Amino acid sequence: MKLLQDVSSVRNFTQKRAPEQEIGLVPTMGALHQGHMALLKASLRDNDLTICSIYVNPTQFNNPDDLEKYPRTLEHDLNFLKDVGCDAVFFPSNQVMYPEEGSQLLQLNFGHLDKILEGQHRSGHFSGVGLVVNKLLNIVQPKRAYFGQKDLQQLAVIRQMVDEFFIPAEIIAVPIVREPSGLALSSRNQRLSTEEKKTAAQLYQTLLYAKEQYKAGGDLTTVKQQALNRLNGHLGIQLEYFEAVRMRDFQLLIDRMEADTVAFCVAAYVGEVRLIDNVVVS
Ligand code: PAJ
Repeated sequence: MKLLQDVSSVRNFTQKRAPEQEIGLVPTMGALHQGHMALLKASLRDNDLTICSIYVNPTQFNNPDDLEKYPRTLEHDLNFLKDVGCDAVFFPSNQVMYPEEGSQLLQLNFGHLDKILEGQHRSGHFSGVGLVVNKLLNIVQPKRAYFGQKDLQQLAVIRQMVDEFFIPAEIIAVPIVREPSGLALSSRNQRLSTEEKKTAAQLYQTLLYAKEQYKAGGDLTTVKQQALNRLNGHLGIQLEYFEAVRMRDFQLLIDRMEADTVAFCVAAYVGEVRLIDNVVVS
């Protein structure tokens, strides 16, 4: 597995390949787990070469404490990637990704997507995600790039950016990988105690409950209220939002939308850790 730390070594690696060889990119912030594994497997299946990036991107963290406490496990990650058969890993420094230190950063505004759910609660987050994913796509120039449905709104932001900038990469969505309890795998789960992990599983149980009620014909206001009651009734959970959106444009729903695919999305703190999750109802 090639270890790449700057832009020119990525370019050397990609330019040395045979012209027909297709590249898949899996962008991550490391602390790799089975959720990332699903993206890597999809890329290894679809492409001749897979490059995984590991970069804890400071510009997407609106909370300095979250950035500082974000798990960093490079040695484990490199072994993990070698074992799965990844061809190359790009793990740049801040200096490589943001060389113009001190200068004004490019700001990306995703309109409606910036004003709701994660956009509303994490000011500037999607601008930072858009910026770094744009950089990664330009550096690697993959045929395909892989993103998890765990971050459903991030996926919508990236699709919008790739469309608007005519970036010639296909964006592939990969379903959420969960623990047996239903808890969605996340690098941040490392910061949860055993007890908190049990509590955190309630997020998915409540999403499932809402999905079932909605599918059974339940009125949306009632379904949402029941979900809110369930989550607010848990001492260990501090809810940020529980909402239903229309998948195709992320409009918040206030009534049932029979003809549309709908997603229930949740964000909450369990202890000091902020978690997000979603389920799609088709
Ligand atoms: P990170 O949180 O490391 O996630 C990297 C990718 O793995 C994302 O596309 C995410 O949706 C996916 N992923 C995480 N947990 C998953 C799970 N349980 N099941 C399926 N996929 C999962 O998301 C980021 O990093 C960053 O914002 C990034 C896109 C790398 C830009 O910095």
